Amino acid sequence: MSERFHDIVLTVNGEDVRERVDARKTLVDFLREDLSLTGSHVGCEHGVCGACTVRVDGVVVRGCLMLAVQCDGARVETIEGVSDSNEIADLQQAFQARNALQCGYCTPGMLLAAQDLLRHGGVPSREQIREHLSGNYCRCTGYHAIVDAIEAVAQRRAGGRR
Ligand code: FES
Ligand code: FES
Repeated sequence: MSERFHDIVLTVNGEDVRERVDARKTLVDFLREDLSLTGSHVGCEHGVCGACTVRVDGVVVRGCLMLAVQCDGARVETIEGVSDSNEIADLQQAFQARNALQCGYCTPGMLLAAQDLLRHGGVPSREQIREHLSGNYCRCTGYHAIVDAIEAVAQRRAGGRR
């Protein structure tokens, strides 16, 4: 019989974390409930909506589909971390300027997904932006303003004017 609780060591937003976690606890619940990092949201809880998006070892993942114990030894980054580091300051500003958020429930996941697309450089087409965001649901905006914001930031980062 395997043990129910496990000691894990990881970094979260650059800080060392040591915690004892229930083997069944998801990463997003661990972040929200144990570390009070409530910027990652819980929506569908089965990998469809993208509200729980975080980065693990630099890769965007669904926090509801990963267990906290799987992050032992990993580097986890949440919306709080990338926001505090100013990595996505231009995206945040563009979302605000272009009304790309209303209730804001999807926004942390949208921003992380957008940054995942843009950090490789280049200016993706609107179709590519929509395709990349296809795993992140928004019930409020109709997506158009979100695509506008991401496209504008991509052009700005590439040195274009917008
Ligand atoms: S809560 Fe994780 S994808 Fe919806
Ligand atoms: S702004 Fe409300 S779900 Fe996207």
